[in-house]
Amino acid sequence: MTASEIDTPPAEPTDAAASPDDCLIRVRGLRNEFGSYVVHDNLDLDVRRGEIIGVVGGSGTGKSVLMRSIIGLQIPDAGTIEVLGQSITAVRDDADIAIRSHWGVLFQGGALFSTLTVAENVEVPLREFYPEISEELLAEIAHFKVLLTGLPGDATLKYPSELSGGMRKRAGLARALALDPELLFLDEPTAGLDPIGAAAFDQLIKGLQQTLGLTVFLITHDLDTLHEICDRVAVLADRQVIAVGTIPELLALDHPWIQEYFNGPRGRAATAAWHRASERTA
Ligand SMILES: Nc1ncnc2c1ncn2[C@@H]1O[C@H](COP(=O)(O)OP(=O)(O)O)[C@@H](O)[C@H]1O
Ligand SMILES: [Mg+2]
Repeated sequence: MTASEIDTPPAEPTDAAASPDDCLIRVRGLRNEFGSYVVHDNLDLDVRRGEIIGVVGGSGTGKSVLMRSIIGLQIPDAGTIEVLGQSITAVRDDADIAIRSHWGVLFQGGALFSTLTVAENVEVPLREFYPEISEELLAEIAHFKVLLTGLPGDATLKYPSELSGGMRKRAGLARALALDPELLFLDEPTAGLDPIGAAAFDQLIKGLQQTLGLTVFLITHDLDTLHEICDRVAVLADRQVIAVGTIPELLALDHPWIQEYFNGPRGRAATAAWHRASERTA
C-alpha cells in the first residue's frame, strides 16, 4: 500500500475535498543526495492545514534534511516544494524571504544563542523582520512569548546555560513563536527530556496548536508523543515517505520497519499506555 492509498480525508466534516488551501506543505518528487549517497528519491508529502503531523523514521533516514528542504535551508537536487502556496525551491532572493516569517522552527538540539538572554533570543527574529519595532515593544512581545510557553517571567533575563533542558526547549519554542507563525517545525523537541518533562512539552504543543490554530510538522522518535498529540504520522524509509496515516492505519500495513516500530515491545507499551489514559478520561 502506498501513502496515497491510505490517505484519509481530513477529520473536519466541513472540509471539502483537499483544496490547495488545505494543504500548507506540498512536496513532490524530492531528491536530496550528498555525493553518491541518496537521502531522498522521488519523495512526496502533503501536510494539511491545522494538523499535527508526526514524522518518524530510523536514524539517518533524512527527517532533518526533509525539514531543512521544506524551510529552504537545503537546496534539493530535484523536485518541488510549496509552502502556503509559494514555491520554496524557487526562493532564492531576499524579496521571497518574507515567506520565512510564516513559520517558526525549533531545531534539533534547541540551538539558542548562548551569549544572549532568553528575551534577546526571542527578539532575534523580530528584529530581523521588523527592524522598526521599539525596544519597549520588543521586550513586551518577548515577555509574552516566554509566558506562552509556560516559563516564569523572570526566565527572560536568564542565559541558556542557566536553564534546565526542558526550560531551554521552551525558550526555543518561544523564539519559534516570535513572529506569530502559521506553521511550526519541531525537530525532536522531546529528545533528552525525562518522560514527565516530555509529556508536559507534548501537552504544551497540543495546547498551543489548538489555541493559535497552528499546523505542526513534528519530527520525533517518541511513541508516546505520536499517540498523544499527532493527527497523522508520516513514515520515512527507503528514501521516501512510504506511508502517511493515523496510527491504526499504519498498523494495518505490513512494512517491516512500521511493524517493528509500532508493534515491537516499545510500540505496544506506548499503545497500551495510551489506551489506559483514554479510558481514564472517557
Ligand atoms: N550537509 C550534509 N552533508 C552530507 N551528508 C549529510 C548532510 N546532512 C545530512 N547528511 C546525511 O544525510 C542523512 C540523513 O540525515 P538527517 O536528515 O540528519 O537524518 P535524520 O533522519 O536522523 O534526521 C545522514 O546519513 C546524514 O549523515
Ligand atoms: Mg535529525
